[in-house]
Parts: sequence; structure tokens; C-alpha cells
Amino acid sequence: MESQKSSSNSQFIIAPSILSADFACLGKEVQDVLVAGADWIHFDVMDNHYVPNLTIGPLVCEAIRPYANKDGKPAVIDVHLMIEPVDRIVPDFAKAGANLISFHPEASPHVNRTLNLIRDQGCQAGLVFNPATPLDYLDHTLELLDLVLLMSVNPGFGGQSFIPSTLNKITQVRARLDRFQAETGRHIRLEVDGGIKVDNIAEVARAGADTFVAGSAIYAKENYAQVIGAMRTELGKSGKA
Ligand code: DX5
Ligand code: ZN
Repeated sequence: MESQKSSSNSQFIIAPSILSADFACLGKEVQDVLVAGADWIHFDVMDNHYVPNLTIGPLVCEAIRPYANKDGKPAVIDVHLMIEPVDRIVPDFAKAGANLISFHPEASPHVNRTLNLIRDQGCQAGLVFNPATPLDYLDHTLELLDLVLLMSVNPGFGGQSFIPSTLNKITQVRARLDRFQAETGRHIRLEVDGGIKVDNIAEVARAGADTFVAGSAIYAKENYAQVIGAMRTELGKSGKA
């Protein structure tokens, strides 16, 4: 992950969630959204156990890997694991071409061990916080993190509404990550996931997020480039670009 000096000059990342894509032509959906200006592909893994829904696994990650390119280079596949247990499947996602793997700390009995496992597999590592998950899990893990992912909906389904209290949580994490960066020089991304649209992305950026997951806002529209372009315009107006 690129090192950056402060949150104010951090580069914004837009990561469409393929959960809302047309699964009958997923390779094309991945390709199209990257051509339309997306940066990463957000890959939602649900197990009908940790969350009440069932989606896609390493085989699908491997299948889309050849389609996930941007400007001739591999684009980041940002795997969001909503599964329990976590560790068994991590090497499979690494082999399938995942670049970044995030998990929910309450789904792993040994959070540090899981973070180290992800890094040992050559991937970047992230921790995910549900709206009601306390931020205490950051206390002893920051050194091992490349990304903090704040859920702005309760995980399990696309198309839900943004929970406004997330903004306060984003601000708290931003302050903490800025402090960490000032002390160590290491930049940790702050991603927000759930209910992100053209009309709230600037507010989420102003609170301190630099990485934005959007599923239905992009894939439910005909013209992906138009939505992503409108999101970038809003980010430009946020005063944080
Ligand atoms: C929810 C998933 C999200 C979701 C985002 O459990 O983690 O990534 O698909 O979809 P939208 O943008 O439609 O809320
Ligand atoms: Zn997600």
C-alpha cells in the first residue's frame, strides 16, 4: 500500500461491490466497472453462518482474477470475509489472487494470529467493524493492519441504507489513524461499506474515509462511468481531495 503523509492528501479509492453485479456475467461486470473508473473490486464473502446470506468463495475470486485489470495492471481484489471461522479459507483466497483480505474480529478467536496469517500469505490485512462493534479491537492490532473497514450497515445484504451514526465512528478512527501515522509514518486506509451513494459520499469523506465501497449505487445503474464520475466530482467538492 502506498505510503502517504496525511489523510488530507490521501488518494480516494472507489471499490464497487460485485454483490450487486449480474452474476451471470461476472467477468464482464468486473471489467466494465474498472473501465468505468473504479479502482478496486470489493468481493463480499458470506457464509450463511456469520451472516444470514450465502455468496461467493475462492473459486469465483480465481475466475474473476484475469478480468480485474486497470490500465494494464492487476487491480486490487478487496476481499471482505463475513464468515466464521476465518483461518481455514485465508490461504485459498490468497492463492485465488486476493490482494487484501479483511475479516470481522468477533469471527476469529485469535485476531492477531489471523492478521499474521493473511500477511504471511502475501496479502494486505484489514479488520472490519460492524455498527455495534466497539473500536477496542484496534488497541493491539494497528501494527498489523493495512486497512480498517467500518460497516455503515449491518452486514449480510446489499442495498441497505447508510446508518448515520457511522460518521462519528469514522471521525474517531480517522483521528486514531492520523496519530498512528504521525508516530510511525505508516498509512492505514479507512474504508466505509454500506449505503454509499453519490449524495452521501462527500459527507463520508469529510468525516475521514478515504476508501468507499458502493454496490447497488453503481451496479443498479445502466451507466457505471456516470455514477463513478459523479462520485469523484462529489469527492472533489468535499474539501478533502
Ligand atoms: C454488506 C456488504 C456490502 C454491500 C454494499 O454486507 O459488505 O459490501 O454489498 O452494498 P450497497 O452499496 O448496496 O450497500
Ligand atoms: Zn463488503
